[in-house]
Amino acid sequence: MSVIEVNNLTKSYEFGKGIFDVTFSVDSGEVVGFLGPNGAGKSTTMRHLMGFSIPDFGECKINGYDCSKSYYITKKDIGYLPGEPTLPQGLDGKAFVKMMEGLKGCHNDKLVESLCKRFELDLNQDIKKMSIGERRKLAVVTAFMSDPKVLLLDEPTSGLDPRMQEVFIEFIEEEKKKGKTILLSSHIFREVERLCDRIMIIKDGRIVASVNKDDISKGLKKTFEISFYNPASYESFTKESFEFTSKNKLELRVSLMIDNCDIDRFIKTIKNYNVKSFSEVTMTLEDYFMRFYKTRGDLSE
Ligand SMILES: Nc1ncnc2c1ncn2[C@@H]1O[C@H](COP(=O)(O)OP(=O)(O)OP(=O)(O)O)[C@@H](O)[C@H]1O
Ligand SMILES: [Mg+2]
Repeated sequence: MSVIEVNNLTKSYEFGKGIFDVTFSVDSGEVVGFLGPNGAGKSTTMRHLMGFSIPDFGECKINGYDCSKSYYITKKDIGYLPGEPTLPQGLDGKAFVKMMEGLKGCHNDKLVESLCKRFELDLNQDIKKMSIGERRKLAVVTAFMSDPKVLLLDEPTSGLDPRMQEVFIEFIEEEKKKGKTILLSSHIFREVERLCDRIMIIKDGRIVASVNKDDISKGLKKTFEISFYNPASYESFTKESFEFTSKNKLELRVSLMIDNCDIDRFIKTIKNYNVKSFSEVTMTLEDYFMRFYKTRGDLSE
């Protein structure tokens, strides 16, 4: 059953920016990674899911409630970690937690205490004296203190040191085991690879891919590395119509990606060349994702 549903969500800003026709869903207990270059539309989508922004077109729902209309109903069950938490400057950590408890309608001292212990956060500090990492930890504590079933995490580990990133990842692994439904935006592949069942990629405000994590390594596309004995073979092969991911003229070596359905053509073609070495490379999530960072609008070389 879908817990998060986003249908044709569109919000346009000036200069052609925004999100356009964004459609996806996240099932109960599913952990979905939301990846995309800077400015792709991740935070905008999440803000709509929190009801902080009203769409020009389309809708988003959590547990069946329209996010733009059900602000108070949906908030109790949602843990939101904003990309750039803005915290009130005049309060200390304790007062902020209390304020958030009032807004969320929750109170669980034990859970707050255990979260602070886990993330090594001292709530007695004034917010304005907190470091970036400490503020992020405070946002983490307040996002999780109602033990929400749905989590919208926008670059949750940015600003955390490597050890705290690990603490956070282990914490989310436990939340996942509890059956939480999680949408997580991130630029950290290790984090996404460890935590997410499925990965969606957004670029220029549009969803351009949605893949199960296992499918990437199992060969949604295969990547091969080929080197040639002579420059003529190299030159000729690079003119073939394949999706080259790198070309090294000096070493007479290319990498290319082949769709499973195109393997036969690839093998028949390569037989005509004087090949020095040939190997299949296992594609990582990072390899897959980096294709979408390219500046050209299409996804091919
Ligand atoms: N309120 C706004 N007014 C005008 N433009 C906006 C507004 N909010 C977002 N945008 C634009 O929409 C695009 C998407 O922004 P968004 O913050 O969603 O990106 P993002 O994927 O979260 O990027 P990042 O990885 O840098 O956090 C950007 O080009 C941004 O400048
Ligand atoms: Mg963002």
